[in-house]
Amino acid sequence: MQVVTQAQAVQQQALAWRAAGDDVGLVPTMGALHAGHESLVRRARRENRRVVASIFVNPLQFSPGEDLARYPRPIQRDLEVLEGLGVDAVFQPELDQIYPASFRTHVDPGPWGEVLEGRSRPGHFRGVLTVVLKLLELARPSRAYFGQKDAQQLLLVRQLVRDFCLPVRIVSCPTVREPDGLALSSRNAYLDPARRSSAPALYGALRQAAQAYRDGRKDPAALERLAVEALSGRPELELDYVALFDEATLERPAEAGPGNVLAGAVKLGGIRLIDNVILGAEVL
Ligand code: PAJ
Repeated sequence: MQVVTQAQAVQQQALAWRAAGDDVGLVPTMGALHAGHESLVRRARRENRRVVASIFVNPLQFSPGEDLARYPRPIQRDLEVLEGLGVDAVFQPELDQIYPASFRTHVDPGPWGEVLEGRSRPGHFRGVLTVVLKLLELARPSRAYFGQKDAQQLLLVRQLVRDFCLPVRIVSCPTVREPDGLALSSRNAYLDPARRSSAPALYGALRQAAQAYRDGRKDPAALERLAVEALSGRPELELDYVALFDEATLERPAEAGPGNVLAGAVKLGGIRLIDNVILGAEVL
């Protein structure tokens, strides 16, 4: 496995692979890898001749006061994990390889970047789309892999690819969970035992509403309310939002239908948790 730190070097390698006719799969990450990331890498490994994983804690997508400084960076372990999964190259750039002093241009995500996660995290998706565009340009993948857990990110990346006609297929991968339902996240490491035991309640609430959908409830507002009510018995979970939206437009449908996303965000002792379920698709 190559560990590449230079932007130019990773682009040259990717271009050489593509020129030789090899598919390239890219898995962008911020490191602190867990089984969710690993599932993306495994899928990329199955579907491409070459696999590149990137590890870059992107400062541009953190708001002031967020956890940029303390974001976990277990780099040796991450490299071992990626080696074990048969990754061909890890792109692990320093800050100046992505944002040299001369860097000026940013991707404006448009209105979908301002709602839900974007409302609580101003500038977040501008940072995400800017780095994703740069990573796509550097690694020149045939396919890039993203988790359904970050449903709004996935939707905005798909929009970026459409808007700029980027020659890459975006592959979405299902959310990997702990046995008690908590979606794996690098930030779960911040949860103390009491908070950790409350954390699965978010998924529980979303699942209850998804079950009601299965039982025939189709009113989006009523389904959102059901999830909010399920959370109201948990004062330690501070609700940010529960929103039902169309998976392609982020708009609330007149009537809930299969494929719609029911997403939620809560704060638990200052730690933000997000999760979502796809209506009609979840194993309940
Ligand atoms: P990060 O949080 O490290 O996540 C990297 C990828 O793993 C994302 O596509 C995310 O959706 C996916 N992922 C996270 N938890 C998952 C889980 N439990 N199951 C399945 N997939 C999961 O998302 C980012 O980094 C950054 O915003 C990035 C895209 C790398 C841009 O900086």
